[in-house]
Amino acid sequence: MQFSAKFADPVAAPTDCIVVGVFQGKKPQLTPAGARIDRATNKTLGAALGRGGIDGRIGGAQFLYRPPGIKAGCVLLVGLGPKPDAKRDDNPSAATARRRRGAAIAAKLLDERGIASALLCLLDGDGDGGDGGGDGGDGGDGSTVRRRARHIAESMEDILYRFEQTKSGASKPRQLKRVQLLCERAQLAAVKRGLREGAAVAAGIKRARDYANLPGNLCTPAFLAAEAKRLGKQHGIAVTVLGEAEMKRHKMGSLLSVSRGSREPAKLIVFEYRGASSSKTRGKTGGKTRDKKTGPVVLVGKGLTFDAGGISLKPSAAMDEMKFDMCGGASVFGALQAAAELQLKLDLVGLVPCSENLPDGAANKPGDIVTSMSGATIEILNTDAEGRLILCDALTYAERFQPAAVVDIATLTGACAVALGAHASGLFSDSDALAEELLAAGYASGDRAWRMPVWDDYAKQLESNFADLANIGGRYAGAVTAACFLKHFTAKFDWAHLDIAGTAWKSGAAKGATGRPVPLLVEFLLGRAA
Ligand code: BES
Ligand code: MN
Ligand code: ZN
Repeated sequence: MQFSAKFADPVAAPTDCIVVGVFQGKKPQLTPAGARIDRATNKTLGAALGRGGIDGRIGGAQFLYRPPGIKAGCVLLVGLGPKPDAKRDDNPSAATARRRRGAAIAAKLLDERGIASALLCLLDGDGDGGDGGGDGGDGGDGSTVRRRARHIAESMEDILYRFEQTKSGASKPRQLKRVQLLCERAQLAAVKRGLREGAAVAAGIKRARDYANLPGNLCTPAFLAAEAKRLGKQHGIAVTVLGEAEMKRHKMGSLLSVSRGSREPAKLIVFEYRGASSSKTRGKTGGKTRDKKTGPVVLVGKGLTFDAGGISLKPSAAMDEMKFDMCGGASVFGALQAAAELQLKLDLVGLVPCSENLPDGAANKPGDIVTSMSGATIEILNTDAEGRLILCDALTYAERFQPAAVVDIATLTGACAVALGAHASGLFSDSDALAEELLAAGYASGDRAWRMPVWDDYAKQLESNFADLANIGGRYAGAVTAACFLKHFTAKFDWAHLDIAGTAWKSGAAKGATGRPVPLLVEFLLGRAA
């Protein structure tokens, strides 16, 4: 889809359809642009509202064809819910979520009706930056309107996503091709920038969803490694892939123990995007001069392309969904792509350890003890707790980059999905500053996280009679003990962990990857690059 910012009189705009937001209240209320169109069309819009066509609630929408007095072929009224209200909105991103939903519903309806171009009046009327409306003012620097534009572009692309790679037969081509976002003259630059960011985030989300939706027989570690090289070439990101021989040389005994039970060799993908380093220092990875401030942000994503549990075999119900166990890795691909596309001024490393976890004669057995790259020995009491086994070696490998911060992203525990459901990813960090930064990025992007503890009190559950630590911590606080396991390998840098087991994909009729937490990660990176 092609997005552009438009300062114009909507009455005279030559577009197939004008989308007008309607707020919910005692009476449904048009945005100012909507009110202007209403006057030009001899109250056609108001009349539709008056007859209860829509009352402004989210999900409500109505087409008005060939309204008199305007150039556009039709008007689409779309409910935006109540106006943002900092007092009533129960969380900082509720208003954001409503605006995204309204834009997404509009995109779906426009595309269904075969409408190719549309002008959106969705930015105005709920207190543009500075008035303290639900998502906060921006003190006149355009940051609020920029973020709103980003969300509109992102959610419109996201709702029109289809996964058809593994279906035969031609798919219906995308109908909606051009979207203009109406704004004030002074907002043009901010809106333009926001739309560009939204398109980049959407492309990152799409990439993550595409990989995650592919089945385990197609999306193997070797496939992801090849895709990483392709992505690197396309976007100017250096990519190296460590095979099992190199892993052996690095003594990654924990990661290797998981892939030993699979016929697909493990891969460790290393992305290096340099947006901050000057051209003089380019090409010198992990130079000794790097310090905490100038080192890269490192994203580490779990790339378990299929998790059967290994010898601690999972029950067969819904086991197909364990093809999604590489969603953390896929989000690293998506975030790197978006960062490169936006030419963010920061250095970024992506590490994606990839493996399968299957039962086999060579697979890990409960009670086996392996030695990680860090030197710590691990007693594998449950072979299904494999994510932490591949991540711990990737985390140790991250040390060589002298990172400013390391964020790992993993579909790590069913327990996290039980605790938080599908609304928030679990956030674990012993750095308050980094945790706050990621929580704020979650709110701002509408891709929320919720903080959980990683206290040493919980780490006691990982004590082993035979090794330095066990890979499971018993029945209670499973998401926390998993995070404590990872924390063991992060002493040398600022670290946070996102458990996306509940947020990375949907089950049931809408089964499929969501692309989360690409929006959160890109928001975080935008903040770091600013
Ligand atoms: N990939 C799973 C976690 C998972 C399970 C995510 C279900 C989403 C839905 C992970 O490898 C795993 O199997 N974790 C175990 C850990 C346990 C053995 C301590 C789990 O959550 O059951
Ligand atoms: Mn598992
Ligand atoms: Zn897993």
